[in-house]
Amino acid sequence: MKTPFFLLATFLASASFAQEIPYREYEPFDQYEPLVSGDLKLSGTYQYWKDPANLDFRMAGNPDENWKLNWKFMDPPFNQAVHGGHFAVDRGERLFKQLNARGSFANCLGADKLQQMRAGYPRWRADLKHVAGLEEVIEHCGAQQGRVLQNGSYDNSAISVYLASLGNGQPINIDVSQGPMNEAFERGRRLFHTKAGAFNFACSSCHTHNIGRRLRGNVITTIYGDAAHYPVYRTQYMLQSLQLRFTECNLDTRTQPLLPGSRPYTDLEVFVTALTNGYPISVPAERDW
Ligand code: HEC
Repeated sequence: MKTPFFLLATFLASASFAQEIPYREYEPFDQYEPLVSGDLKLSGTYQYWKDPANLDFRMAGNPDENWKLNWKFMDPPFNQAVHGGHFAVDRGERLFKQLNARGSFANCLGADKLQQMRAGYPRWRADLKHVAGLEEVIEHCGAQQGRVLQNGSYDNSAISVYLASLGNGQPINIDVSQGPMNEAFERGRRLFHTKAGAFNFACSSCHTHNIGRRLRGNVITTIYGDAAHYPVYRTQYMLQSLQLRFTECNLDTRTQPLLPGSRPYTDLEVFVTALTNGYPISVPAERDW
């Protein structure tokens, strides 16, 4: 009796192992505190940008040092230039007001206060039965009124950047300490270290282990604090949501990008947003590269 049971157990064990395939390589899983101050350990640059009111603009003018400011010097309120991001906020406001003529759009977004939307997303949505980013929910709530607001499209990101602008200055604040948000954070952390694509790079190959290095005219910055200035105005793409930025980094490293709103990208967004916890929302920001 013993042997067949043993064989069955071995078979089951190997079958569950088989589910781990496709085979993946990982970089070492670094620990990250879900707070911007965690960057003290990672890149050590937090000291230079922790106080938004006291950025050293001499560093901003120096190409060898400006990456230490994590580009915060390009974000409002320091960048007062009128750029495409401002027009996006205006368009987002118009669209939002059309959609919300009867209050149902804001209701669907789940906002007690619109000003607090950006700071509290991604979050668990009981109606969708998963953790969702703000842009995914904008698409979902538009669809309820028969409007197509595809995640990653200009109009979707315009509504998102408008809502973010209402919360300008408020610290990002998502809770990843427990439940589905914690699970999403852990999955995001794992993805961040998962090697993929033709070069077999993980996000962490650059944003954890090569911070400050030059890469084709760009200097790689820490991932901490990045979620506070998205969606961002890009001279190249007009308006880029955080998840669209992931597609760009994937494409740059010859990795098959995923769709904005896909579960893995949302997990990554939870991870990046948790690492922005405590940093003030600053939109519409501008990035040229
Ligand atoms: C080959 C190196 C490389 C890899 C791998 C890479 N990136 Fe990037 N990433 C860059 C560079 C260079 C920039 C532009 C400079 C900067 O802000 O760091 C950038 C920018 C970003 C930004 C915007 C920063 C800002 O201030 O607006 C985010 C967010 C980001 N990457 C996330 C990711 C994620 C998530 C992954 C994995 C899916 C990834 N990156 C993989 C090199 C890389």
